[in-house]
Amino acid sequence: MALPQTFKAMVVSETAEKTFIREIKQRALNDLPAGELIIEVKYSSLNYKDALSATGNKGVTRKYPHTPGIDAAGMVVDSTTKIVAVGDQVTVTGFDLGMNTSGGFGQYISVPALWATKLPQGLTLKDSMSYGTAGLTAALCIIRLMASGLSKDAGEVLVTGATGGVGSVAVAILAKLGFTVVAATGKSSEHEFLTGLGAKAIISREEANDTSGRPLQKPRWAGVVDTVGGNILATALKTTKYGGLVAACGNAMSHELNVNVFPFILRGVSLLGVDSVEIPMRARQMAWSKLAGEWKVNIGSMVTEVSLEELSPKIDEILKGGIRGRVLVNLST
Ligand SMILES: NC(=O)c1ccc[n+]([C@@H]2O[C@H](COP(=O)([O-])OP(=O)(O)OC[C@H]3O[C@@H](n4cnc5c(N)ncnc54)[C@H](OP(=O)(O)O)[C@@H]3O)[C@@H](O)[C@H]2O)c1
Repeated sequence: MALPQTFKAMVVSETAEKTFIREIKQRALNDLPAGELIIEVKYSSLNYKDALSATGNKGVTRKYPHTPGIDAAGMVVDSTTKIVAVGDQVTVTGFDLGMNTSGGFGQYISVPALWATKLPQGLTLKDSMSYGTAGLTAALCIIRLMASGLSKDAGEVLVTGATGGVGSVAVAILAKLGFTVVAATGKSSEHEFLTGLGAKAIISREEANDTSGRPLQKPRWAGVVDTVGGNILATALKTTKYGGLVAACGNAMSHELNVNVFPFILRGVSLLGVDSVEIPMRARQMAWSKLAGEWKVNIGSMVTEVSLEELSPKIDEILKGGIRGRVLVNLST
């Protein structure tokens, strides 16, 4: 297959004044790192981590100029392995994509074959990136909660950061599975969106953020999907019922967690960590097949589609916690 010499990509560069600028540029295909697969990216999506990479967070991306994008879905156009063939449709999420490896905010990526997951039956490339890492992480949280014993008759399940990417997909999947979902949000204007996804009740960010200093609070939640960390996660632990389960996957509020042991030793609450970046391929494939099959939700209703040229303002918006649902990036336009 004849490949182009250059392709369009977002390039983030560090200036002499140590600021970071984003430009849409032509990049040479030859500049991509050597990889077993070259993938023509059709869709990517915006995740919180991409915004960190795009604004010079050295904990995410060490070297600039750099093309962010931890998600990519497209067609394999060159392969040096037998595991994945030219013409296969694949998704790549996590590993080092978009961190220190040129990412999905460019029309081509070059990656090891082991990073690629074949597109599951039941999803288009567009669907897969409408979910993206956020949807995959929501599925992994719910898999973890259910594998640890959460059942739909156990009581209310809280989702924090509910209008965000992970949160909104988690609300929709849990509601589809018959759980009683309570959404915690800072956006009073988005209650209708959340009830539309299936939330039975909504609490404000303030209500989810106990500042009383009390070691325990009235128990309410059978389960929690927490996407924000910080004192909201600490509050979730203090308000989880006896034997309840809390899945923690994010730090949009804070990476700090100031907790006491009482939820664990008096109520038997379990804190379950969820990572989508390094999870083994079998767990990743299982989560994708759930998203493509019995857990498939109306993901299109949560998506704002943008071109590469329209992406930059969305990056600023996600950093301020202002995004509703998912931002899909169409690389073909
Ligand atoms: N563990 C993993 O593998 C993994 C994978 C994906 C994402 N994550 C993490 O999960 C988190 C969510 O990711 P995302 O892509 O869903 O991001 P997102 O779309 O920006 O959603 C985050 C949501 O959190 C709420 N929020 C934002 N700032 C807040 C603050 N200061 N205090 C309290 N709530 C705040 C907002 O929702 P409301 O306005 O509705 O409250 C916001 O929409 C991020 O920290 C991300 O890094 C982790």
